[in-house]
Amino acid sequence: MEKKRETFASRVGFILISAGCAIGLGNVWRFPYIVGQYGGAAFVLVYLAFLVLFGLPIMVMEFANGRASKKSVALSYDVLEPKGTKWHWAKWFHMAGDYILMMFYTTIAGWLVQYFVKFLRGDFYAGMTAEQVGGEFDKLMADPSLMAIYMLVVVIVCFYVCGHGLQNGVENVSKKMMICLMLLMVVMAVNSCMIPEGREGLKFYLLPDFSRMQEAGVFNALYAAMGQAFFTLSIGIGALAIFGSYIGDERRLTGEGLNVMILDTFVAFTAGLIIFPACFAYNGGQTGQGPSLVFVTLPNVFNHMALGRLWGAMFFLFMSFAALTTIIAVFQNIISFATDLTGCSVKRAVGVNGVVIAVLSFPALLGYNLLSGIQPLGAGSTILDLEDFIVSNNILPIGSMIYLFFCTRKCGWGWKNFIHEADKGEGLKFPGGKAVQFYISWVVPLLVLFILVMGYKDKFFA
Ligand code: PHE
Repeated sequence: MEKKRETFASRVGFILISAGCAIGLGNVWRFPYIVGQYGGAAFVLVYLAFLVLFGLPIMVMEFANGRASKKSVALSYDVLEPKGTKWHWAKWFHMAGDYILMMFYTTIAGWLVQYFVKFLRGDFYAGMTAEQVGGEFDKLMADPSLMAIYMLVVVIVCFYVCGHGLQNGVENVSKKMMICLMLLMVVMAVNSCMIPEGREGLKFYLLPDFSRMQEAGVFNALYAAMGQAFFTLSIGIGALAIFGSYIGDERRLTGEGLNVMILDTFVAFTAGLIIFPACFAYNGGQTGQGPSLVFVTLPNVFNHMALGRLWGAMFFLFMSFAALTTIIAVFQNIISFATDLTGCSVKRAVGVNGVVIAVLSFPALLGYNLLSGIQPLGAGSTILDLEDFIVSNNILPIGSMIYLFFCTRKCGWGWKNFIHEADKGEGLKFPGGKAVQFYISWVVPLLVLFILVMGYKDKFFA
């Protein structure tokens, strides 16, 4: 009896920690603004399809790679690949993804922390106009030193935590914070859905209108949905594989992956329920404003709530934690990469990488002020947009395909080994029939390739 409970507790821990890595800016910052840009409900449907059809199997593959090798991506291929093959070269590609992701993630996490402080200080208050609220965001963007301070705080705190064993402290705190975040989001969603002027927003979010998606370019939208699905699940750069390496063989991996996906989707979906009614009620129905969307819309929501300052402070606090747990997970990966490869101490890995990530984070934040002349993806785009594009729309899908080929090809780890690993223990089995094998081995990679190519065409040559 006692033993059973213990296993159960650690299993929930694993799921919540993986969910902690998956749930982050992707759900509350990125998901709503991408949905806003690509036309609402129709886009959401496509996104959900990608989650289940592409995302879940690849998530299971990452977990399986980690669990079978008991190593981070730095060495997992070396352990599992057939002798003499070169799969382990892929680690450099995955790792590049981890670094580039952090180059902009730290900056946005800094915005969240700064918004927490703003709410504590009372910078947002009832009676502010929507323009004034938007003005606060513009002010922050125009101030590189302020952004740098918050970014540095984020980098230092997260590396500090990684350097001091995250098992007890962070695991505990982040679990509680994640649960608080989810509860708070439900309250806010109910609140938002009850605003009468927000009805149009709910329609935009929940009633598919494919013509709106066509306006954005169908392949462009598919491409964005795929990128978002991979981004939100954290697949393609070994960030989840490392958690697989920490667990035992008690449970089949498909069920675990499904749980993580459901939690992640729940948070993203709820974020949409909060944001879109508010966009229509307070922002004149503007949904396409990109990365600033939540930072402009959410304070408006809080300003219209009783005790808005308190709700706002709590929301941005929990949200900062969600972002920090993601960063800590990726830093953990970066640190073990360094220690595995060079044999250096954790302390040294933390020191060197802390400086490297801090320096690498500057272009993204300078892109909003001193370097705003650099608009790499067309008028109005920023360096941060470019970094996000490189990771979400290139490295994550391609990195995921590398995992997929590794797990399905005889010259790699192979289908049999993969299924054997994924199905160890109890729980949901990986659907392992011939049809599924064919679908995963051929249909998925061809579709991903097709969407990548057509997405590029729509984006750059339309
Ligand atoms: N899933 C994370 C989020 O939603 C981002 C992430 C992507 C983390 C890829 C790790 C790897 O914020």
